[in-house]
Amino acid sequence: MFKFNFTAEDLEIDDPELVTQQDEDQIEELSKPLESLSVSSSSSTVVPASRLDIQSKSCLQSLPLTLHYELAQIPVLKQGTGAATAISIDMKTGEKKEIVTIYKRNLEDVKFQIAQDDDDFDTEDNNKTKEQEVAKQTISGPGGAEMLALAGKSDLVKGVYEGGLKTWECALDLVAYLAEQNENYDGKKVLELGCGSALPGIYILTQSNSAKVDLQDYNDQVLRLVTLPNVLLNTYVRPDQQPAEEEEVEEEIKEQKEKTEGEDDEDDEDDEDDEEHPEADPEDGDFRGVELDLPDSFEDKLALAKKVEAQSSFYMGDWSGLVDVMAFSGDEDKYDLILTSETIYAEESHQKLYDTIKNSLKRGGKALVAAKTFYFGVGGDILSFRRLIEKDNVFNVKVVFSAQAFVRREILELTFKA
Ligand SMILES: C[S@@+](CC[C@H](N)C(=O)[O-])C[C@H]1O[C@@H](n2cnc3c(N)ncnc32)[C@H](O)[C@@H]1O
Repeated sequence: MFKFNFTAEDLEIDDPELVTQQDEDQIEELSKPLESLSVSSSSSTVVPASRLDIQSKSCLQSLPLTLHYELAQIPVLKQGTGAATAISIDMKTGEKKEIVTIYKRNLEDVKFQIAQDDDDFDTEDNNKTKEQEVAKQTISGPGGAEMLALAGKSDLVKGVYEGGLKTWECALDLVAYLAEQNENYDGKKVLELGCGSALPGIYILTQSNSAKVDLQDYNDQVLRLVTLPNVLLNTYVRPDQQPAEEEEVEEEIKEQKEKTEGEDDEDDEDDEDDEEHPEADPEDGDFRGVELDLPDSFEDKLALAKKVEAQSSFYMGDWSGLVDVMAFSGDEDKYDLILTSETIYAEESHQKLYDTIKNSLKRGGKALVAAKTFYFGVGGDILSFRRLIEKDNVFNVKVVFSAQAFVRREILELTFKA
C-alpha cells in the first residue's frame, strides 16, 4: 500500500463544491468541503439498466461541435520505488512524482450544452404532450434544466442524478494507483462501474489499444455529455495529436463565423446569445477552457463512434439488472478488472454494487473499489461495504492504497478466494 498526501484542491480539479444550504454551516466549520455530499431529494423508481447505443442518431446529435476541455494532471509515484507504503508526495517540492495527464471535458461546457439543449427542446416542441414530458424525465433521466440545477446545487439526487457530471477525488487516486502498478492491459477486459467522467477507465484505454474498456453510469446524459467526449478527447481526437493545419482551419472557421454574424445583424437574439457566451479564451480566464472542434457531419461522428464502440460498450441505468443486460456467455466472457470510484456513498446500494462486481468478475480477475472512508450527508462508509464483502466470504479484500486527508481515502482490492 502506498500513500498520497494531496487533495483535489491541490490538483485544481473541479471536484464537488458540495455546498448546500443545510450543509453550509457544518462544511464551513470543517473547512473541508470535499468530504460531504449534498443530497436534494430522491426518487422511488430507478432507471433500468440497458446498453447505450452510441452510434444512435440521438447520441451522435448530442456531441457538440466544439468541446471545451481541461487537463487532469495526476501525480504518480515513479515505478520501482518499491515502497508502496507510507510514501507521500509533496506537491510543493514535486518530489518523487510523475504526472499522468488526462483530457477532460470542462464541466462548465457541459452545463452550457445542457442549457442550450433544453432551450432547443422547449422551442422545438412547445406542444409536447404530458407523456413526452414524462418520458423526458424518466427514460433519459431529468431534463436539461433539472440536470443543470442538480449539477450546480446538489451532488446527487438519489435515483435521479448520481453525481457523474463531476470528477471526484477517488477517481484520481485510482488513476494514480493504476499508473503506479503499470500493468499490461493488452487483451484485457475492463469495466468501470459508476464511471462519470471515467478517468480510470480512460487511463487504461490510453495504455493499450487491445484492451476492452466498458463504461457504466446511472445517467445516460453523463455518458453522452461527459464520458463519451472524454473518451474521444483521449483517443481519437486527442488535442495533442491534431494535425498542425488544424489551427489554420480553426482560424478559417472563426473568420467565417464572424463574417456570418456580421451579416446577421438583424437577428438580435443571436447577438445577445453570443455576447452572453463568447468564444472560450483561457487567456481571458474563460470558464469553459481550451477548445477543440469535433467533426460536424453525421457520417464523421458515426465513424468516430464506431471506433469507440470497437473498444468500449456503454451501459446506463441501475446496477440491479446490469449483469442480465451484459449477458455473459461464461466465466471467460467476464471482466479481468473492475474499477469503481466514489460509488459506495449510499449504503442501500452496497448490495447491488457488490452483486454486480461478484457476478461480472472473472475468477482470476480483480476489482478495485476507491472510496472515502465515510460520506457525510449520506452516511455510506467503506467499513460497512467491507463487512458486506467479508460476510459473503467469496473475496479476499485488502487495502492497496490509502491517502491521508480529513476523511481518509482508500482503494480496496477484491480477488476471489481460491
Ligand atoms: C459520485 S459519482 C462518481 C463518479 C466517478 N466514478 C468519479 O469518481 O468521478 C457516483 C457514480 O456512481 C454511479 N451510481 C450511483 N448509484 C448507482 C446505481 N444505483 N446504479 C448505477 N450507477 C450508480 C453513478 O453513475 C455516478 O456516476
